[in-house]
Amino acid sequence: MIKMAKRKKKRLSKIGKIFFTILALLIIGLLLCLAFTHQNLFNKEDQTPENNLNISQNVDTEKPKITYVTNMFRTKVGNEVDLLKDVTATDNSNEILTVSIEGDYDFGISGTYKLKYTATDSSGNKAEEDFILKVYMDGINLDLSKLTEGNYQTFTTSKGYEGITLNGITYVEGFIIANKTYSVPNNYGSGLEKETQDAFNKMVSAAKLENINVNIQSGFRSYEKQSNIYNRHVREEGIAEADTYSARPGHSEHQTGTAMDLNWIDTRLEERADGKWLFANAYKYGFILRYPNGKTNETGYIYEPWHYRYVGKELAEKLYNNGNWLTVEDYFGLTSIYEN
Ligand code: DAL
Ligand code: ZN
Repeated sequence: MIKMAKRKKKRLSKIGKIFFTILALLIIGLLLCLAFTHQNLFNKEDQTPENNLNISQNVDTEKPKITYVTNMFRTKVGNEVDLLKDVTATDNSNEILTVSIEGDYDFGISGTYKLKYTATDSSGNKAEEDFILKVYMDGINLDLSKLTEGNYQTFTTSKGYEGITLNGITYVEGFIIANKTYSVPNNYGSGLEKETQDAFNKMVSAAKLENINVNIQSGFRSYEKQSNIYNRHVREEGIAEADTYSARPGHSEHQTGTAMDLNWIDTRLEERADGKWLFANAYKYGFILRYPNGKTNETGYIYEPWHYRYVGKELAEKLYNNGNWLTVEDYFGLTSIYEN
């Protein structure tokens, strides 16, 4: 009896051992399953339909590639341009990526905007490409449509402004520059610029309403005309004296078609009602007093209360400076000195 019970017990423990082994295997299997599912959930964003690969073996660390035609956009205030035109981003995963613009800009406010193109792939790799948007002021003389790849040179003025040399003409922030340092080609110019003439007409009408007569004593002057004027002054007073008030041919602002001598070519113009009106109001129509009193070391010329130059309302108001006129040279950081 005792013997039988012992045998039964022995058989039972054998079955128990098998049972527990199966149970243990099942638990291990279950744990492995859980671990695998968890890992899949964790790495879900790495699994795109296009790239459903084994994650542990293929981690995408490559940035997308942004391609563009230009990284320099130029426009005039108020004129929008499509900054994303011809800009694409490609990636090794063959995903279609969207390109975004990082940084603030406003086509309605002139300035130089430093911006970035960015594109991010589904693995979080981000590509960045710098580009610049230049929004020029109203009244510029540079025809932006004439700029093509490699047909111009750029430089930076001592005050950080952009200079462009195109066809022998220097523009700073889009404004044509003619002074003792910068000249225009002999054959440049054929008359007053249309924008200058239109602005002048508006100023004449406004002045008339206040019983002020504004008229042009000398407007556009060709290279030859300036040559005759300058040479006459040199004959009469010598080079040193002539250079204080008369520009050498090629260096006169009158050849740019943006400048004019108004009403009376005499320093006493400043004491007359018309001279005072021009001094206080010309900027509202986009004109600047080009050679203010006491600024000879900047402009290179003595005071000329009659010489006004069109630069558009925005720059004119800056240079008017509440009646304490700034010069083009001081504002942009330019010299006005003859080489020899
Ligand atoms: N009087 C100015 C400087 C000119 O000759 O253009
Ligand atoms: Zn003049």
